[in-house]
Amino acid sequence: MEDTVDDQGIAVVAIDGPGGSGKGTIAHRLAAYLGWHLLDSGALYRLVAVAAQVSAVDLDDEAGLGRLAAGLEVRFVGKADGTEQIFLGQTDVASEVRTEETGKIASKIAAMPQVRAALMELQKRFRKPPGLVADGRDMGSVVFPDAPVKIFLTASPEERARRRHKQLKGKGIDVSLPAVSADIAERDRRDTERAVAPLRPAPDAEILDTTGLSINEVVEQVKEIVARTLADR
Ligand code: DC
Repeated sequence: MEDTVDDQGIAVVAIDGPGGSGKGTIAHRLAAYLGWHLLDSGALYRLVAVAAQVSAVDLDDEAGLGRLAAGLEVRFVGKADGTEQIFLGQTDVASEVRTEETGKIASKIAAMPQVRAALMELQKRFRKPPGLVADGRDMGSVVFPDAPVKIFLTASPEERARRRHKQLKGKGIDVSLPAVSADIAERDRRDTERAVAPLRPAPDAEILDTTGLSINEVVEQVKEIVARTLADR
């Protein structure tokens, strides 16, 4: 594939979509395949949620959360076994970052303009040569509007709930499918209806419905979109 670059000289593949659409897994696989950097932007919102608990900042204190977000000292370290460490300062908080509770808090604080503004700069700093695969809700619409490749991954709410349920069971977390479904519906509503950077495909995004597709099938389709888009430029 020709390594074509965008206006800032560094190509970005933006992968957005709702929870359970598979974007995290797909973004990881694509970044490894291309040998590019990865930005898991959801993890940054989750980290603000964890940092708020560590620093005892009230979850209604938007200015305080904005300051925390602006000063976030974060480092992602991939391990040889495929797992990942997420350092907040010197502490590995990966397991706290991935809990359902943290996801819920992240979704709430992600609606706060001061938190979003504070994380903007940090997210842009992930754009380094040879390229970036960025996964989130507003990568193509807000953070990297000039990304040459924008993909919006989606799947039916039922399928996303089933995937999330399986993932949680795999982690040994005992939760019912109806509870996961309700949670996904609530998160969708909050992420879609918020005033700032709501979850919505960028006008120039390619929409990929992954309902009924395996991870490998989605990865192949995404690789094909990336190859085609970069070759056309
Ligand atoms: O993708 P995730 O579940 O790790 O994201 C957690 C929450 O963070 C999600 O419910 C909404 C928010 N988020 C966001 O608002 N913008 C992003 N680019 C990524 C995540």
